Amino acid sequence: MKITTERQPLEQIEADALVVPILEGRKEERFGAAALFDSGEVKGKAFELTLIHHPPGVAAARVLLAGGGKSAEFDAAQLRKVAGAAVRHLKSKSCKNVALAVEAEWAGANYVSAAVEGAVLGNYEPDQYKTGNDKTELESFRVVAGREGANVEEGVRRGRILAEAQNFTRSLVNKPANRLTPSDIADAARQMAAEFGLECEVLDRDQMKALGMGALLGVAQGSAEPPALIVLRYRPEKAEGTAHLGLVGKGVTFDTGGISIKAADGMEKMKYDMAGGAAMIGAMRALAQLKPAIPVSAYVPSVENMPGSRAQRPGDIVTAMSGKTVEVINTDAEGRLILADAITYARRQGCTHLVDAATLTGAIVVALGHMRVGLFANQDAMRDRVLAAANAEGERMWPMPLDSDYKDYLKSAFADLPNVGGRWGGAITAAWFLKEFAEETPWVHLDIAGTAWLDDAKPFLAKGAIGLPMRTMVRLATEWKE
Ligand code: BES
Ligand code: ZN
Ligand code: ZN
Repeated sequence: MKITTERQPLEQIEADALVVPILEGRKEERFGAAALFDSGEVKGKAFELTLIHHPPGVAAARVLLAGGGKSAEFDAAQLRKVAGAAVRHLKSKSCKNVALAVEAEWAGANYVSAAVEGAVLGNYEPDQYKTGNDKTELESFRVVAGREGANVEEGVRRGRILAEAQNFTRSLVNKPANRLTPSDIADAARQMAAEFGLECEVLDRDQMKALGMGALLGVAQGSAEPPALIVLRYRPEKAEGTAHLGLVGKGVTFDTGGISIKAADGMEKMKYDMAGGAAMIGAMRALAQLKPAIPVSAYVPSVENMPGSRAQRPGDIVTAMSGKTVEVINTDAEGRLILADAITYARRQGCTHLVDAATLTGAIVVALGHMRVGLFANQDAMRDRVLAAANAEGERMWPMPLDSDYKDYLKSAFADLPNVGGRWGGAITAAWFLKEFAEETPWVHLDIAGTAWLDDAKPFLAKGAIGLPMRTMVRLATEWKE
Protein backbone atom coordinates (compact mmCIF):
# COMPACT_ATOMS: atom_id res chain seq x y z
CA MET A 1 0.00 0.00 0.00
CA LYS A 2 1.33 3.38 -1.01
CA ILE A 3 1.17 5.96 1.79
CA THR A 4 1.45 9.70 1.16
CA THR A 5 0.45 13.02 2.66
CA GLU A 6 -1.70 15.75 1.10
CA ARG A 7 -2.21 19.39 1.94
CA GLN A 8 -5.06 20.22 -0.42
CA PRO A 9 -8.39 21.35 0.95
CA LEU A 10 -10.56 18.31 1.71
CA GLU A 11 -13.08 19.26 -0.99
CA GLN A 12 -10.42 18.87 -3.70
CA ILE A 13 -9.18 15.41 -2.70
CA GLU A 14 -9.85 12.85 -5.40
CA ALA A 15 -10.26 9.37 -3.98
CA ASP A 16 -12.60 6.40 -3.95
CA ALA A 17 -13.40 7.51 -0.44
CA LEU A 18 -12.49 10.30 1.93
CA VAL A 19 -12.64 9.23 5.59
CA VAL A 20 -13.76 11.93 8.01
CA PRO A 21 -13.54 11.02 11.70
CA ILE A 22 -16.45 12.47 13.68
CA LEU A 23 -17.06 12.63 17.43
CA GLU A 24 -20.14 12.35 19.62
CA GLY A 25 -21.64 15.70 20.44
CA ARG A 26 -19.66 17.50 17.75
CA LYS A 27 -21.91 18.06 14.78
CA GLU A 28 -20.22 17.68 11.39
CA GLU A 29 -21.67 20.34 9.09
CA ARG A 30 -19.81 19.47 5.89
CA PHE A 31 -20.47 16.84 3.19
CA GLY A 32 -24.21 16.90 3.77
CA ALA A 33 -23.68 15.37 7.21
CA ALA A 34 -25.64 18.01 9.16
CA ALA A 35 -29.01 16.50 8.27
CA LEU A 36 -27.78 13.04 9.28
CA PHE A 37 -26.83 14.37 12.71
CA ASP A 38 -30.13 16.26 13.03
CA SER A 39 -32.20 13.19 12.23
CA GLY A 40 -30.21 11.09 14.71
CA GLU A 41 -29.03 8.70 12.01
CA VAL A 42 -25.42 9.63 12.75
CA LYS A 43 -24.18 10.15 16.29
CA GLY A 44 -20.42 9.71 16.12
CA LYS A 45 -20.36 6.62 18.32
CA ALA A 46 -17.17 4.57 18.20
CA PHE A 47 -16.84 2.67 14.90
CA GLU A 48 -20.21 3.86 13.60
CA LEU A 49 -19.53 4.05 9.86
CA THR A 50 -21.76 5.99 7.44
CA LEU A 51 -20.98 6.03 3.74
CA ILE A 52 -22.21 9.05 1.78
CA HIS A 53 -22.21 8.63 -2.00
CA HIS A 54 -21.63 11.62 -4.29
CA PRO A 55 -21.30 14.02 -1.38
CA PRO A 56 -22.08 17.61 -2.39
CA GLY A 57 -19.17 19.87 -3.28
CA VAL A 58 -16.50 17.19 -2.90
CA ALA A 59 -14.21 15.62 -5.51
CA ALA A 60 -14.04 12.24 -3.74
CA ALA A 61 -16.57 9.65 -4.90
CA ARG A 62 -17.59 8.93 -1.32
CA VAL A 63 -17.24 10.35 2.15
CA LEU A 64 -17.10 7.88 5.03
CA LEU A 65 -18.12 9.41 8.34
CA ALA A 66 -16.16 7.38 10.88
CA GLY A 67 -17.35 7.57 14.48
CA GLY A 68 -14.65 8.11 17.08
CA GLY A 69 -16.83 8.04 20.20
CA LYS A 70 -16.76 10.58 23.05
CA SER A 71 -14.48 13.52 22.39
CA ALA A 72 -13.14 13.49 25.97
CA GLU A 73 -11.89 9.94 25.42
CA PHE A 74 -10.58 10.43 21.90
CA ASP A 75 -6.81 9.96 21.62
CA ALA A 76 -4.21 8.62 19.22
CA ALA A 77 -5.02 5.03 20.18
CA GLN A 78 -8.65 5.62 19.29
CA LEU A 79 -7.73 7.27 15.98
CA ARG A 80 -5.66 4.17 15.17
CA LYS A 81 -8.74 2.01 15.62
CA VAL A 82 -11.04 4.38 13.73
CA ALA A 83 -8.66 4.48 10.75
CA GLY A 84 -8.44 0.69 10.84
CA ALA A 85 -12.21 0.25 10.98
CA ALA A 86 -12.66 2.68 8.09
CA VAL A 87 -10.10 0.90 5.93
CA ARG A 88 -11.57 -2.53 6.64
CA HIS A 89 -15.04 -1.27 5.78
CA LEU A 90 -13.94 0.43 2.56
CA LYS A 91 -11.86 -2.43 1.25
CA SER A 92 -14.85 -4.73 1.66
CA LYS A 93 -16.65 -2.28 -0.66
CA SER A 94 -13.81 -2.54 -3.22
CA CYS A 95 -12.49 0.97 -2.60
CA LYS A 96 -8.80 1.03 -3.54
CA ASN A 97 -7.67 4.61 -3.05
CA VAL A 98 -8.54 6.13 0.28
CA ALA A 99 -7.76 9.44 1.96
CA LEU A 100 -8.24 10.29 5.62
CA ALA A 101 -8.76 13.77 7.06
CA VAL A 102 -6.70 14.51 10.15
CA GLU A 103 -8.08 17.60 11.89
CA ALA A 104 -5.67 20.39 12.79
CA GLU A 105 -5.95 19.57 16.50
CA TRP A 106 -4.76 16.00 15.86
CA ALA A 107 -2.07 16.80 13.32
CA GLY A 108 0.84 16.06 15.68
CA ALA A 109 3.20 13.25 14.70
CA ASN A 110 1.63 10.88 17.25
CA TYR A 111 -1.86 11.15 15.76
CA VAL A 112 -0.64 10.99 12.16
CA SER A 113 1.46 7.95 13.02
CA ALA A 114 -1.53 6.30 14.67
CA ALA A 115 -3.78 6.98 11.67
CA VAL A 116 -1.25 5.40 9.31
CA GLU A 117 -0.75 2.45 11.67
CA GLY A 118 -4.50 1.88 11.84
CA ALA A 119 -4.77 1.86 8.06
CA VAL A 120 -1.82 -0.48 7.49
CA LEU A 121 -2.91 -2.82 10.30
CA GLY A 122 -6.52 -2.79 9.10
CA ASN A 123 -5.44 -3.57 5.56
CA TYR A 124 -3.76 -6.82 6.64
CA GLU A 125 -5.59 -10.13 6.16
CA PRO A 126 -4.35 -13.52 7.32
CA ASP A 127 -5.47 -15.07 4.02
CA GLN A 128 -2.17 -16.02 2.44
CA TYR A 129 -3.14 -19.69 2.24
CA LYS A 130 -6.49 -19.06 0.59
CA THR A 131 -6.22 -19.81 -3.10
CA GLY A 132 -9.17 -17.78 -4.41
CA ASN A 133 -8.65 -14.47 -6.15
CA ASP A 134 -10.80 -12.33 -3.91
CA LYS A 135 -8.08 -10.18 -2.37
CA THR A 136 -9.38 -6.75 -1.50
CA GLU A 137 -6.33 -4.80 -0.35
CA LEU A 138 -6.15 -1.04 -0.58
CA GLU A 139 -3.70 0.39 -3.13
CA SER A 140 -3.13 3.81 -1.63
CA PHE A 141 -3.76 5.69 1.59
CA ARG A 142 -3.33 9.44 1.88
CA VAL A 143 -3.27 11.46 5.06
CA VAL A 144 -4.81 14.88 4.56
CA ALA A 145 -3.38 16.94 7.39
CA GLY A 146 -5.17 20.05 8.53
CA ARG A 147 -2.02 21.75 9.78
CA GLU A 148 1.28 22.78 8.24
CA GLY A 149 4.44 21.36 9.71
CA ALA A 150 7.16 18.77 9.25
CA ASN A 151 5.60 16.57 11.94
CA VAL A 152 3.18 15.12 9.44
CA GLU A 153 5.89 13.55 7.29
CA GLU A 154 7.65 12.28 10.40
CA GLY A 155 4.39 10.78 11.66
CA VAL A 156 3.71 9.03 8.38
CA ARG A 157 7.18 7.55 8.29
CA ARG A 158 7.04 6.31 11.85
CA GLY A 159 3.54 4.93 11.42
CA ARG A 160 4.45 3.03 8.28
CA ILE A 161 7.60 1.54 9.85
CA LEU A 162 5.76 0.47 13.00
CA ALA A 163 2.72 -1.01 11.30
CA GLU A 164 4.71 -2.84 8.63
CA ALA A 165 6.82 -4.36 11.40
CA GLN A 166 3.67 -5.27 13.31
CA ASN A 167 2.18 -6.95 10.22
CA PHE A 168 5.49 -8.79 9.76
CA THR A 169 5.08 -10.08 13.32
CA ARG A 170 1.47 -10.99 12.69
CA SER A 171 2.25 -12.96 9.56
CA LEU A 172 4.90 -14.98 11.42
CA VAL A 173 2.48 -15.71 14.27
CA ASN A 174 -0.36 -16.65 11.93
CA LYS A 175 1.78 -19.24 10.14
CA PRO A 176 0.94 -22.79 11.17
CA ALA A 177 3.62 -24.97 12.73
CA ASN A 178 4.15 -27.06 9.59
CA ARG A 179 5.09 -23.88 7.72
CA LEU A 180 7.06 -22.21 10.50
CA THR A 181 9.51 -24.42 12.35
CA PRO A 182 12.28 -23.05 14.59
CA SER A 183 14.60 -23.18 11.55
CA ASP A 184 12.04 -21.21 9.54
CA ILE A 185 11.85 -18.46 12.18
CA ALA A 186 15.64 -18.33 12.11
CA ASP A 187 15.57 -17.98 8.31
CA ALA A 188 12.96 -15.23 8.51
CA ALA A 189 15.07 -13.39 11.10
CA ARG A 190 18.22 -13.75 8.98
CA GLN A 191 16.48 -12.47 5.89
CA MET A 192 14.94 -9.53 7.76
CA ALA A 193 18.33 -8.69 9.31
CA ALA A 194 20.01 -8.68 5.88
CA GLU A 195 17.31 -6.41 4.48
CA PHE A 196 17.43 -3.86 7.30
CA GLY A 197 21.09 -3.95 8.28
CA LEU A 198 21.01 -5.85 11.57
CA GLU A 199 23.45 -8.46 12.78
CA CYS A 200 21.93 -11.94 13.08
CA GLU A 201 23.39 -15.00 14.71
CA VAL A 202 21.63 -18.34 15.17
CA LEU A 203 22.91 -20.75 17.78
CA ASP A 204 22.33 -24.43 16.99
CA ARG A 205 21.96 -27.41 19.29
CA ASP A 206 25.70 -28.07 19.58
CA GLN A 207 26.45 -24.45 20.48
CA MET A 208 23.70 -24.50 23.07
CA LYS A 209 25.05 -27.73 24.50
CA ALA A 210 28.51 -26.17 24.79
CA LEU A 211 26.96 -23.24 26.67
CA GLY A 212 25.15 -25.59 29.05
CA MET A 213 21.61 -24.64 28.08
CA GLY A 214 20.09 -27.77 29.58
CA ALA A 215 16.68 -26.24 30.28
CA LEU A 216 16.15 -25.15 26.68
CA LEU A 217 17.54 -28.38 25.21
CA GLY A 218 15.36 -30.52 27.48
CA VAL A 219 12.26 -29.01 25.88
CA ALA A 220 13.68 -29.38 22.36
CA GLN A 221 14.59 -33.06 22.68
CA GLY A 222 11.06 -34.36 22.09
CA SER A 223 10.87 -32.97 18.58
CA ALA A 224 12.50 -33.94 15.30
CA GLU A 225 12.80 -30.23 14.56
CA PRO A 226 16.13 -28.84 15.77
CA PRO A 227 15.99 -25.87 18.17
CA ALA A 228 17.39 -22.44 17.37
CA LEU A 229 18.45 -19.55 19.56
CA ILE A 230 18.04 -16.49 17.36
CA VAL A 231 20.06 -13.40 18.23
CA LEU A 232 19.53 -10.04 16.49
CA ARG A 233 21.74 -7.07 17.23
CA TYR A 234 21.19 -3.37 16.62
CA ARG A 235 24.07 -1.04 17.44
CA PRO A 236 23.78 2.77 17.21
CA GLU A 237 26.57 4.69 15.51
CA LYS A 238 27.22 6.56 18.74
CA ALA A 239 25.61 5.10 21.82
CA GLU A 240 24.30 7.44 24.52
CA GLY A 241 24.97 6.23 28.06
CA THR A 242 25.67 2.66 29.15
CA ALA A 243 22.33 0.88 28.79
CA HIS A 244 22.03 -2.20 26.59
CA LEU A 245 18.45 -3.35 26.19
CA GLY A 246 17.76 -7.06 25.73
CA LEU A 247 14.44 -8.25 24.29
CA VAL A 248 13.73 -11.91 25.00
CA GLY A 249 10.76 -13.62 23.32
CA LYS A 250 9.26 -17.09 23.70
CA GLY A 251 9.46 -18.87 20.36
CA VAL A 252 7.61 -22.17 20.76
CA THR A 253 6.43 -22.87 17.20
CA PHE A 254 3.93 -25.39 18.54
CA ASP A 255 3.04 -26.37 22.08
CA THR A 256 1.48 -29.82 22.33
CA GLY A 257 2.35 -29.81 26.03
CA GLY A 258 4.89 -32.59 25.46
CA ILE A 259 4.38 -35.73 27.56
CA SER A 260 2.05 -33.67 29.80
CA ILE A 261 -0.02 -33.40 26.64
CA LYS A 262 -2.75 -30.81 26.19
CA ALA A 263 -6.40 -31.59 25.45
CA ALA A 264 -7.31 -31.71 21.75
CA ASP A 265 -9.97 -29.02 21.97
CA GLY A 266 -8.46 -25.75 20.73
CA MET A 267 -4.94 -27.15 20.50
CA GLU A 268 -4.62 -25.73 16.96
CA LYS A 269 -4.24 -22.31 18.55
CA MET A 270 -0.93 -23.32 20.09
CA LYS A 271 0.78 -22.24 16.86
CA TYR A 272 0.75 -18.77 18.42
CA ASP A 273 3.05 -19.86 21.23
CA MET A 274 5.85 -18.02 19.43
CA ALA A 275 4.04 -14.67 19.53
CA GLY A 276 6.48 -13.17 22.06
CA GLY A 277 9.47 -14.12 19.94
CA ALA A 278 7.86 -12.82 16.74
CA ALA A 279 7.07 -9.51 18.48
CA MET A 280 10.72 -9.08 19.47
CA ILE A 281 11.89 -9.85 15.91
CA GLY A 282 9.30 -7.38 14.60
CA ALA A 283 10.49 -4.76 17.09
CA MET A 284 14.04 -5.17 15.79
CA ARG A 285 12.78 -4.67 12.22
CA ALA A 286 11.31 -1.31 13.22
CA LEU A 287 14.30 -0.32 15.39
CA ALA A 288 16.69 -0.96 12.52
CA GLN A 289 14.88 1.86 10.69
CA LEU A 290 14.10 4.20 13.61
CA LYS A 291 17.64 3.94 15.00
CA PRO A 292 17.43 4.51 18.76
CA ALA A 293 20.47 5.85 20.66
CA ILE A 294 21.02 2.68 22.72
CA PRO A 295 22.14 -0.80 21.66
CA VAL A 296 19.28 -3.31 21.52
CA SER A 297 19.59 -7.09 21.15
CA ALA A 298 16.84 -9.66 20.73
CA TYR A 299 17.07 -13.26 21.93
CA VAL A 300 14.47 -15.71 20.69
CA PRO A 301 14.78 -19.29 21.89
CA SER A 302 12.77 -21.35 19.45
CA VAL A 303 11.65 -24.96 19.86
CA GLU A 304 8.73 -27.23 19.13
CA ASN A 305 7.27 -28.82 22.29
CA MET A 306 6.48 -32.38 21.21
CA PRO A 307 5.95 -35.73 22.96
CA GLY A 308 8.42 -37.67 20.78
CA SER A 309 10.19 -40.82 21.94
CA ARG A 310 13.14 -38.77 23.15
CA ALA A 311 10.95 -36.24 24.95
CA GLN A 312 11.75 -35.22 28.49
CA ARG A 313 9.57 -36.82 31.17
CA PRO A 314 7.88 -35.40 34.25
CA GLY A 315 10.40 -35.78 37.04
CA ASP A 316 13.43 -35.20 34.82
CA ILE A 317 15.98 -32.82 36.30
CA VAL A 318 17.80 -30.46 33.95
CA THR A 319 20.65 -28.05 34.62
CA ALA A 320 20.09 -24.56 33.26
CA MET A 321 22.89 -22.41 31.84
CA SER A 322 22.99 -20.38 35.06
CA GLY A 323 23.87 -23.55 36.98
CA LYS A 324 20.48 -23.88 38.70
CA THR A 325 18.83 -27.30 38.53
CA VAL A 326 15.15 -27.63 37.64
CA GLU A 327 12.77 -30.50 38.26
CA VAL A 328 10.41 -30.71 35.28
CA ILE A 329 7.13 -31.50 36.99
CA ASN A 330 5.01 -30.62 33.96
CA THR A 331 6.42 -30.65 30.43
CA ASP A 332 3.69 -28.20 29.38
CA ALA A 333 5.39 -25.47 31.42
CA GLU A 334 8.06 -25.31 28.72
CA GLY A 335 8.12 -21.59 28.04
CA ARG A 336 9.82 -20.69 31.32
CA LEU A 337 12.46 -23.39 30.70
CA ILE A 338 13.56 -22.02 27.34
CA LEU A 339 13.31 -18.41 28.56
CA ALA A 340 15.47 -19.20 31.61
CA ASP A 341 18.43 -20.04 29.40
CA ALA A 342 17.78 -17.19 26.98
CA ILE A 343 17.67 -14.71 29.89
CA THR A 344 20.93 -16.06 31.28
CA TYR A 345 22.52 -15.82 27.83
CA ALA A 346 21.31 -12.23 27.38
CA ARG A 347 22.81 -11.25 30.73
CA ARG A 348 26.14 -12.88 29.91
CA GLN A 349 26.10 -11.04 26.58
CA GLY A 350 26.06 -7.75 28.49
CA CYS A 351 22.43 -6.69 28.50
CA THR A 352 21.88 -4.23 31.35
CA HIS A 353 18.07 -4.19 31.11
CA LEU A 354 15.75 -6.98 30.01
CA VAL A 355 12.17 -7.34 28.83
CA ASP A 356 10.71 -10.71 27.98
CA ALA A 357 7.40 -11.37 26.24
CA ALA A 358 5.78 -14.78 26.33
CA THR A 359 2.47 -16.56 25.88
CA LEU A 360 3.37 -18.11 29.20
CA THR A 361 0.30 -19.08 31.19
CA GLY A 362 -3.40 -19.79 30.92
CA ALA A 363 -3.56 -18.33 34.44
CA ILE A 364 -2.92 -14.79 33.18
CA VAL A 365 -6.00 -15.12 30.98
CA VAL A 366 -8.03 -16.09 34.06
CA ALA A 367 -6.63 -13.08 35.93
CA LEU A 368 -6.83 -10.34 33.27
CA GLY A 369 -8.92 -11.72 30.41
CA HIS A 370 -8.03 -10.71 26.87
CA MET A 371 -7.73 -6.97 27.45
CA ARG A 372 -4.51 -6.41 29.37
CA VAL A 373 -1.03 -7.87 29.31
CA GLY A 374 0.21 -9.07 32.70
CA LEU A 375 3.35 -7.13 33.63
CA PHE A 376 5.83 -8.35 36.24
CA ALA A 377 9.04 -6.59 37.23
CA ASN A 378 11.92 -6.89 39.67
CA GLN A 379 12.52 -3.11 39.67
CA ASP A 380 10.05 -0.21 39.87
CA ALA A 381 11.96 2.07 37.48
CA MET A 382 12.02 -0.56 34.77
CA ARG A 383 8.34 -1.33 35.36
CA ASP A 384 7.47 2.35 34.97
CA ARG A 385 9.47 2.70 31.75
CA VAL A 386 7.59 -0.18 30.15
CA LEU A 387 4.20 0.96 31.45
CA ALA A 388 4.77 4.48 30.09
CA ALA A 389 5.73 3.11 26.67
CA ALA A 390 2.74 0.75 26.68
CA ASN A 391 0.32 3.53 27.59
CA ALA A 392 1.66 5.75 24.82
CA GLU A 393 1.15 2.91 22.33
CA GLY A 394 -2.30 1.85 23.49
CA GLU A 395 -1.02 -1.67 24.29
CA ARG A 396 -2.81 -2.09 27.61
CA MET A 397 -0.87 -3.71 30.45
CA TRP A 398 -1.42 -4.20 34.16
CA PRO A 399 1.20 -4.55 36.93
CA MET A 400 1.10 -7.88 38.75
CA PRO A 401 2.71 -8.74 42.12
CA LEU A 402 5.95 -10.61 42.80
CA ASP A 403 6.05 -10.56 46.61
CA SER A 404 8.80 -12.72 48.06
CA ASP A 405 6.45 -15.20 49.74
CA TYR A 406 4.94 -16.25 46.40
CA LYS A 407 8.24 -18.05 46.02
CA ASP A 408 7.03 -20.48 48.71
CA TYR A 409 4.87 -22.01 45.97
CA LEU A 410 8.03 -22.99 44.07
CA LYS A 411 9.58 -25.80 46.14
CA SER A 412 11.22 -28.95 44.86
CA ALA A 413 12.54 -31.76 47.06
CA PHE A 414 15.04 -32.84 44.41
CA ALA A 415 16.27 -29.75 42.57
CA ASP A 416 16.77 -26.00 43.09
CA LEU A 417 13.38 -25.24 41.51
CA PRO A 418 10.36 -27.07 40.15
CA ASN A 419 9.07 -25.76 36.82
CA VAL A 420 5.51 -25.34 38.13
CA GLY A 421 4.13 -23.92 41.33
CA GLY A 422 0.89 -25.76 41.90
CA ARG A 423 -2.69 -24.60 41.71
CA TRP A 424 -2.60 -20.97 42.85
CA GLY A 425 -1.24 -17.84 41.26
CA GLY A 426 -0.03 -19.66 38.16
CA ALA A 427 1.02 -16.53 36.25
CA ILE A 428 2.88 -15.24 39.31
CA THR A 429 4.80 -18.45 39.99
CA ALA A 430 5.76 -18.59 36.30
CA ALA A 431 7.08 -15.03 36.59
CA TRP A 432 8.88 -15.89 39.83
CA PHE A 433 10.59 -18.75 38.04
CA LEU A 434 11.91 -16.33 35.41
CA LYS A 435 12.95 -13.84 38.08
CA GLU A 436 15.31 -16.49 39.46
CA PHE A 437 17.22 -16.22 36.18
CA ALA A 438 17.00 -12.45 35.68
CA GLU A 439 18.72 -12.15 39.10
CA GLU A 440 19.94 -8.55 39.66
CA THR A 441 19.35 -7.29 36.12
CA PRO A 442 16.42 -4.86 35.90
CA TRP A 443 13.79 -6.95 34.15
CA VAL A 444 10.18 -6.90 33.05
CA HIS A 445 8.18 -9.97 32.10
CA LEU A 446 5.10 -9.60 29.90
CA ASP A 447 2.65 -12.50 29.92
CA ILE A 448 0.79 -12.11 26.63
CA ALA A 449 -1.11 -15.42 26.58
CA GLY A 450 -4.46 -13.59 26.69
CA THR A 451 -3.60 -10.63 24.47
CA ALA A 452 -1.51 -11.84 21.54
CA TRP A 453 -4.39 -13.43 19.64
CA LEU A 454 -7.85 -12.24 18.59
CA ASP A 455 -10.40 -15.07 18.57
CA ASP A 456 -12.89 -12.90 16.67
CA ALA A 457 -12.13 -10.06 14.29
CA LYS A 458 -12.56 -6.49 15.55
CA PRO A 459 -13.90 -3.75 13.26
CA PHE A 460 -10.30 -2.52 12.99
CA LEU A 461 -8.31 -5.78 13.04
CA ALA A 462 -8.58 -9.22 11.42
CA LYS A 463 -8.91 -12.37 13.48
CA GLY A 464 -5.65 -13.98 14.57
CA ALA A 465 -2.31 -12.56 15.61
CA ILE A 466 -2.23 -9.00 16.93
CA GLY A 467 1.52 -8.39 16.96
CA LEU A 468 1.62 -6.96 20.48
CA PRO A 469 3.79 -5.92 22.41
CA MET A 470 6.01 -4.97 19.49
CA ARG A 471 5.13 -1.27 19.47
CA THR A 472 5.80 -0.93 23.21
CA MET A 473 9.27 -2.40 22.75
CA VAL A 474 10.01 0.07 19.96
CA ARG A 475 8.88 3.06 22.02
CA LEU A 476 10.79 1.81 25.06
CA ALA A 477 14.02 1.75 23.04
CA THR A 478 13.49 4.93 21.02
CA GLU A 479 12.54 7.01 24.07
CA TRP A 480 15.19 5.57 26.38
CA LYS A 481 16.80 8.16 28.70
CA GLU A 482 19.40 7.29 31.29
N1 BES B 1 1.68 -21.91 25.98
C1 BES B 1 1.07 -22.24 27.21
C2 BES B 1 0.29 -21.09 27.83
C3 BES B 1 -0.92 -20.62 27.08
C4 BES B 1 -2.17 -21.02 27.49
C5 BES B 1 -0.82 -19.75 26.03
C6 BES B 1 -3.29 -20.56 26.83
C7 BES B 1 -1.94 -19.30 25.38
C8 BES B 1 -3.16 -19.70 25.79
C9 BES B 1 2.11 -22.67 28.24
O1 BES B 1 3.25 -23.28 27.73
C10 BES B 1 1.43 -23.64 29.14
O2 BES B 1 1.06 -24.67 28.67
N2 BES B 1 1.29 -23.27 30.41
C11 BES B 1 0.64 -24.10 31.35
C12 BES B 1 1.42 -24.07 32.63
C13 BES B 1 0.98 -25.08 33.64
C14 BES B 1 1.36 -26.48 33.17
C15 BES B 1 1.63 -24.78 34.95
C16 BES B 1 -0.77 -23.54 31.59
O3 BES B 1 -0.93 -22.32 31.62
O4 BES B 1 -1.70 -24.33 31.66
ZN1 ZN C 1 2.96 -25.38 27.48
ZN1 ZN D 1 3.71 -22.77 25.73
